[in-house]
This record gives sequence, structure tokens and C-alpha cells, in this order.
Amino acid sequence: MNTRLLPQFDPGNESAYQQWREQKLLDYPADIEQLIVEIRNPAQLSEAEREAMLLSLRKSNMAIFAGPGGADPDKAIPRRLGAQFGLLSLDNNTGADDDGITSLEVKNGAWHKQYIPYTNRPIHWHTDGYYNELTRQVYGLQLHCVRAAAEGGENALMDHEIAYILLRDRDPALVEALMHEDTMMIPENRVDNRIDRPDRSGPVFMAGPGGTLHMRYTARVRNVVWRQDAVTRQAVNALDDILGADSSFIYRATLQPGQGLISNNVLHDRSGFNDDREAPRLLYRLRYFDRVAG
Ligand SMILES: [Fe+2]
Repeated sequence: MNTRLLPQFDPGNESAYQQWREQKLLDYPADIEQLIVEIRNPAQLSEAEREAMLLSLRKSNMAIFAGPGGADPDKAIPRRLGAQFGLLSLDNNTGADDDGITSLEVKNGAWHKQYIPYTNRPIHWHTDGYYNELTRQVYGLQLHCVRAAAEGGENALMDHEIAYILLRDRDPALVEALMHEDTMMIPENRVDNRIDRPDRSGPVFMAGPGGTLHMRYTARVRNVVWRQDAVTRQAVNALDDILGADSSFIYRATLQPGQGLISNNVLHDRSGFNDDREAPRLLYRLRYFDRVAG
């Protein structure tokens, strides 16, 4: 947590930023097709497949794989896929199955019903685990589709480094405001009058492994307390604008069976969906304390 951000992310270092920005935007993928890598066996990638995914991950912090696995529900498949990118240490979050992998599907139990991921309702823009302790942030995220919804269930995706650029280009004061340690507070969560999670305060932009840029964010309006000053309000509104705009930097995909996303926990949302009752949507979600290696 005491790691310092790399120089390009320091709002006071204009030359490092401009140099990095130019490289980042050079040939930046304009179309989601450029992020898709066809793979034959997710549990054991060929060197060429792994390299192609890494190339995409280095450029845009995400890659979409398309395997032939179809609706194979074996959880060893996503676990082994992640391991090939150095993604090993799973966040055994509440709601995860015993093995630390979460089955995202519509669930009707009393506990699950209060959390939107286990319903068919839309989910606003966010990064995963923004309510985690700052020392237990989610740096890597894999989504793995076993069964798609009958309709809907589309994810929008945006590289959080691009969000940083779009904000900083408007005004470096905006990214600086979002680095304040009290920028975003997620109030405690109580279950049966017991504190399940205390208040969690922290920045939106912070240093991840090796000084890389990490983002904690949720666009939800309830259960978030933003720092009460004009520049924070401006920054939050600007981010809202950026994520709500029709932009070539926002990719949209409805993952099909055998397809999935590996990412450095980029910004994403999910549209609402309707299930085929015989074959309801099932996605595995793997949250890692690791960032993609390489
Ligand atoms: Fe998510």
C-alpha cells in the first residue's frame, strides 16, 4: 500500500505522463475484435496463444479468450487458465464457493437476493472488490462463461488507464483529487445487526503492484460517500460523463460459452438479462490479489 505510483501517474510529472500517454494510445485497439484470442485448450495454452493474450493485456489491461470448451462447468478450467498468467491467489469473498470461485447465476436464497450480481438486474460501472481493505485489493479478474443468458447480460469494458488519461487530459487536478486517501468511502455493511464489513475509505486511483495504476470505483449512488469538496464532485461527474459517453474506448461483449475475460480489473458493467429457465446464465468469477504477470 505504500508503493508509489510510477512517474507517469504522478499528476505533477507532465513529461513522464506525455511520453507514456503517447505510447499507450499508439495503435490502441479501436474495436473489441482486436482483443479476442482464439484458443484451443484454456487449461493449456500454446505459447503463441499465451503471447497473443499477453500482448493484449499489456496494451489494454484485458484480453478476451474464445475457447471451444462450450458449456463445460469444470472449475479447474478457469483456475488453470488464470495460473498461466500468474493469477494464483484468489479472493475468497463472501458469496464465493468453497474453492474461492464465484458462480454468478440468479440465486433465490435470502442472502444472495440482496446482492445485485446474483440477480438478473443491470450492474453499474465498477471495478471488483472496491469495498475490500486497501491491503487486499483485487488486481486481477477473470470472468468465464459456461452458459449465456437467453437475452442480455452484456458487459461494457473500459481500460482504467484510459479513464485516467481522459480525466487527466481534461484537468490534472481531477486525477489528483481521486488520489486522495479519503476520496471514496464505502459505509459498513451490517448483517443481522452485526458489522460484516466496517467503513472502508480510500482513493479511486492508487498504486497496485510495482507502482502500476489500480482503480477502486463504483458508479452506484447509494452506499458510497464521496469526499465533500468541489474538485472531487467535478472529478466524479467527469468520470460519470466519460463512462456514459458513446466512445470507441468502451468495448461491449456478451460472453458466449467457452469465452471469457482476463483483466487487470478494468472498469466494467453488466446489462440486465433474461434466462432460459432450462439453461440459466452461469459465469464463473475469479478475483485475484495478483496482477497479470508479464
Ligand atoms: Fe464486477
